[in-house]
Amino acid sequence: AKPSVYVTREINKEALAVLADTCEVTFWPGPDPVPRSELLKNIAHKDALLCMLTDKIDAEVLQCAKQLKVIATMSVGYDHLDLKEIKKHEIKVGYTPGILTHATAELTVALLLATSRRLFEANAAARNGGWQAWSPFWMTGPGLEGATVGIAGFGRIGQEVAKRLIPFQIKKLIYFNRSQKPEAESTMGAVRVTFDELLQQSDFLVVCCALTSDTVGMFDKAAFHKMKKTAIFVNTSRGGLVDQDELVKALQEERIAGAGLDVMTPEPLPLDHPLFKLKNCVIMPHIASAAVQTRAGMAMLSVENIVAGLKGEKMPSELTLD
Ligand code: GLV
Ligand code: GLV
Repeated sequence: AKPSVYVTREINKEALAVLADTCEVTFWPGPDPVPRSELLKNIAHKDALLCMLTDKIDAEVLQCAKQLKVIATMSVGYDHLDLKEIKKHEIKVGYTPGILTHATAELTVALLLATSRRLFEANAAARNGGWQAWSPFWMTGPGLEGATVGIAGFGRIGQEVAKRLIPFQIKKLIYFNRSQKPEAESTMGAVRVTFDELLQQSDFLVVCCALTSDTVGMFDKAAFHKMKKTAIFVNTSRGGLVDQDELVKALQEERIAGAGLDVMTPEPLPLDHPLFKLKNCVIMPHIASAAVQTRAGMAMLSVENIVAGLKGEKMPSELTLD
């Protein structure tokens, strides 16, 4: 018999077809994430799981999944997977790094510019009568030219963001990262700094790091206090990296100039959340990888991870569980 796979969302037809070649496929067809109870029920006799970042895969899920050998998440982030538990069950894990780097970097730059140059605020003003006349100070915000750009987390995505910002004639590129990146230093002139230096020097601070037990809440009250009053803060990684209540306060008190967020806590952000009331905050609904061809590629890579994993072969993008 073919191995069985549960897919927690409808994905590209092409990817589903490849999966169906070698597997018995069941997928959750709803427009919303699979309800927890459905996931627990459906995972019971499956050999593999293709999941999304909206699915929490923890001890409870694994307990129901007696037959599970392979998990592939259609995401680069894997903070929704309890890797300790997964390792105990000797389950292999695939994810989708690389393929979404360019789309994510692109959206990050768009969000940065939308925030600094106040695009949504300006657009709203133009439509609602707030546009009286061209005016010297009206809707002004910091430009990238001559700015110091700081990147927290200088991996694949952080480096692609940097590459895209350099042509804006920035003055200095600094980064904070666990390890040094000598190649990026020589090709981009990037300078590695301490976390405090990053906070103190950045005109634009872009968060591109993974959410782990080391990075959770790293942008806390002390961090926002160290930043420039004129700084623009951009996060396209995970909301958990930020103490969000402190970010709200920093924005309300104008201790920083603005924030552009593609990720927050929780998601979706409740409509009455104070972040939505702030003019100096631009909020995107977690769409950084949402380029059409990127999502298609992520689906196909996830399928390839499942197929290889079930065959007992090395996955094209396998996560090392240490
Ligand atoms: C998106 O946030 C991803 O992790 O792929
Ligand atoms: C702006 O429109 C200018 O001409 O400076």
